[in-house]
Amino acid sequence: MVEFTLPKNSVVTHPLRPPSKGGDFQRVEVYRWSPDSGENPHVDTFDIPRDECGSMVLDVLLKIKNELDGSLTFRRSCREGVCGSCAMNVNGKNTLACTKSLESYAGETLRIYPLPHMSVVKDLVVDMAHFYAQYAAIKPWLENETTPERERLQSETQRAKLDGLYDCVMCACCSTSCPSYWWNSDRYLGPAVLLQAYRWLADSRDENSDDRLNALDDAFKLYRCHTIMNCVDTCPKDLNPAKAIADIKQLLLKRA
Ligand code: SF4
Ligand code: SF4
Ligand code: FES
Repeated sequence: MVEFTLPKNSVVTHPLRPPSKGGDFQRVEVYRWSPDSGENPHVDTFDIPRDECGSMVLDVLLKIKNELDGSLTFRRSCREGVCGSCAMNVNGKNTLACTKSLESYAGETLRIYPLPHMSVVKDLVVDMAHFYAQYAAIKPWLENETTPERERLQSETQRAKLDGLYDCVMCACCSTSCPSYWWNSDRYLGPAVLLQAYRWLADSRDENSDDRLNALDDAFKLYRCHTIMNCVDTCPKDLNPAKAIADIKQLLLKRA
């Protein structure tokens, strides 16, 4: 469970809609901050009629943005859990707003915050530039000098090794829930990027494993993982970045 402390003098504002009396309402608290306002961050409270809203957390945010406060800012695109852009912290846990049902918070106030330990650009939008730069650094593409006659073939077993790896949507829920990444994100690559690094190491078509391992063999880039397992607990795609990290360590051990 992640706990947030708002800066000094921050306030929880009055509800934009009066607290509900009767009916089925979902109370929602949303973190707000705009670089243009010059004010401290605060939390806005909304009461959303359940029967006028879709069934996912993202539907609540869309309802607020479309009908109550158009200035509420958040990322989303696919609405299907495949683009990874709607990652945020809901009731203390990072998740994808579009695949998380309101039902899973039955009876609770929804508390929606940006991904933890990231610089906030506005409201629920965080700065992903460093995360993406780390991703680019592991060369997330096939490196292969040989030209195949037609396509590059894989056996069923070789292909199966990519399951649980290619499905990662780079939402950063895992990395931003990892205490090691919180404190060392300048040098530790974090679970998401390391899972992606292993995805290319595990690909039978890639010929650059040695260079890839050389680049990862670093006290900070890889070995800051202390198997705390927050990454596994939070991944909205049910992936296991901690295992991918352990598998990279195994490959380095074997090579040594
Ligand atoms: S491993 Fe899971 S939580 Fe981490 S970036 Fe990929 S999909 Fe998101
Ligand atoms: S297992 Fe490793 S990568 Fe995952 S949360 Fe823990 S320290 Fe971070
Ligand atoms: S909107 Fe694409 S993953 Fe949620």
